[in-house]
This record gives sequence, structure tokens and C-alpha cells, in this order.
Amino acid sequence: MLSKTQISSFNRDGYLVIENFLEKDKREQLINRAKEMIDDFNPDSSNSIFTTNEQERASDDYFLNSGDQIRFFFEEKAIDSNGNFTVPKHQSINKIGHAQHVLDSVYKKVINSLDIPLIGKQLGIEKPRKLQSMHIFKQPNIGGEVGLHQDSTFLYTSPMSCIGFWMALEDANIENGCLQAMTGGHTLPLKKRFKLAKSGGTEFEILDDSSWPDRQLDLLEVKAGTLVILHGQLPHYSAENTSNKSRQAYSIHLIDLNCHYAEDNWLQSEI
Ligand code: FE2
Repeated sequence: MLSKTQISSFNRDGYLVIENFLEKDKREQLINRAKEMIDDFNPDSSNSIFTTNEQERASDDYFLNSGDQIRFFFEEKAIDSNGNFTVPKHQSINKIGHAQHVLDSVYKKVINSLDIPLIGKQLGIEKPRKLQSMHIFKQPNIGGEVGLHQDSTFLYTSPMSCIGFWMALEDANIENGCLQAMTGGHTLPLKKRFKLAKSGGTEFEILDDSSWPDRQLDLLEVKAGTLVILHGQLPHYSAENTSNKSRQAYSIHLIDLNCHYAEDNWLQSEI
């Protein structure tokens, strides 16, 4: 349960950092399970390269139909212009998503052992739904940048309700691409929506075309096991990983089932 101070700090800053949230044993279970899944994964040309450098964001069927599947997305720099791997398979994966918290017994058990829906309720979600989750690797040397964005851009409800729960599976710092946040920026309007285009594929709908305020981002350097709770409108970012250490994290997003989930959100899930 969150204290009143923690709740007001979340409301003030748009994020909240809670240390020692995910125990070592649970972190290891997730890291080891991901390893097993990658062992069993046989890449082929239909698998997506993931990038949030927006216009390039993968919008192929493999990505768009991953809302209720467990799928594997490559780091952009893991594959060269001739289609060959530049790194071993285990270092090529950017993330696994988006339904392992429902479909995989290990992820499901770990996530269900945490009080995430209860925390969501304390932060204003009336009827929490664990909509999607991601195991993010931020691979050594090639882990890609994730541009400044608001999560409600991708998981839009009316009224907006998305809250992200980001758990560090390994230490995250400036060298390996920790989260960076625009403290207090959750009061800014939502800039845009990433949605299914009528003509097929996806598009961004611009909701507010003003530029981001010229504010320094705060570095969220955290130890493994730390939970960072992110308001859906909080602008956040992470740089490329230029170090030789990965920066694994597991994130899950809640939405409020009492809010309307947009039919044209990119993520549609049958489960
Ligand atoms: Fe995000």
C-alpha cells in the first residue's frame, strides 16, 4: 500500500520511485524465463525490429497483433543492412511482449504476487486491467534509444487512465540507459495518439502541436528491484545503452475498465 506522502508525490511529479519492490528471487525468475523463451525462439524475416523513433515504429502485423501474444522484437542495431545478425541471438532482442503476464505461467505467477492493481486503485483507477506487459532488455552496446513520449499516446482511454509500472530487473544508470522523466510534465496535454489508420497500418494523430517545454529531464538511476510508477501523460525517455551491461526491466500497464478503451488503439487484445 502507498502512503499519503507517496500518493501526493506521484500526483505532484507524475512518477513515484519505490525501492526494493521486486525481490531478487522474482527478478531471477523473470530473467531466466526470458532466457528460456529466447532459446526456443526461431527468428525469421517476419519478426519486427522495434524502434520508438516514432515514424519508424514497426507497424507490421507481427507487431500489431502482439497484444494477446508473446512475441520477440529485435534491437534495430542487431541486424545489418544485409539482414544478418550483428550479435548473438540472446543479445539481439529489444523486448518480449505483450501478454506474457497472462499466457506464461512464470510471468503470471510473479506479476500476480504483486499488489499492482491495488496500487493502481490508490492512484485513482477504479477497475484496473493489466493491459499489456513488456520484458525490456536494453542490450549491451546496441540497446536503442526510446524517444520522449507519453504512454497514453499508445494506450488511450477516455478519460485517460493509463499508468505504467516499470520494474528494474538490473541496476539502471546513465551508462546503460536508465529512465529519464520530465518531472511534473504529466500536467501537459497529450501530444498525440498512435492508432490504427483507416487505410491500414498505423498513424499518429496530433492532438497538441506545441513543442515540448524546454525542461531538463531528471535521471532515474535505480537499483535492481526498484519500481517506477509512471503517469500516462508523463513525458519520459531513455537513451541508447552505450555500456557493456544490459539494463533489463519488466513493465506492465494498467488501464481503467470504467474508461472507454479506444477501438482504434494499436493494441487490441482478445484475452
Ligand atoms: Fe513509456
